[in-house]
Amino acid sequence: MVCLGNICRSPLADGLLLRKIKAQNLNAIVDSAGTANYHIGKAPDSRMIRTAAKHGTALDFLRARQFTYNDFQNFDHILVMDHSNQRNVLKLAQTPDDEKKIEFFLDYLYPHQQLEVPDPYYGTLEDFEAVYQLVDQATDALIQKLFHEQ
Ligand code: 4NP
Repeated sequence: MVCLGNICRSPLADGLLLRKIKAQNLNAIVDSAGTANYHIGKAPDSRMIRTAAKHGTALDFLRARQFTYNDFQNFDHILVMDHSNQRNVLKLAQTPDDEKKIEFFLDYLYPHQQLEVPDPYYGTLEDFEAVYQLVDQATDALIQKLFHEQ
């Protein structure tokens, strides 16, 4: 799960997916990272933590880190939240196989549309809630596709 700061969108996708994978006894390694280095080592944004907690999803244990080339070796799917994230991870890809791993997170919910999860960082609490609803639906769709349709 990749976004810019790794404090709003991608930690939410990470924490929600972890929670659902555990609840459904599925087996996967999930992590998140930001393309930027601004927030390395920080907990998720307090507004994102509070919004997720309201829905029973804990995010406070997560810490931001920066996306690195090693992520292409450690993960099968590199899911980006927006086009800028896509450009930034593409710059680090070294092989066509690396490039193939990059997908739009929302394509699991709205296939082939390359829609973006809006960045709530400069927004209101309502924007954080809207991101939660979107990521909640997209993580359900992702689990359906990756665990139940293959
Ligand atoms: P995220 O949101 O990419 O969803 O974690 C942002 C967090 C921080 C900043 C931008 C977006 N920032 O400019 O510091």
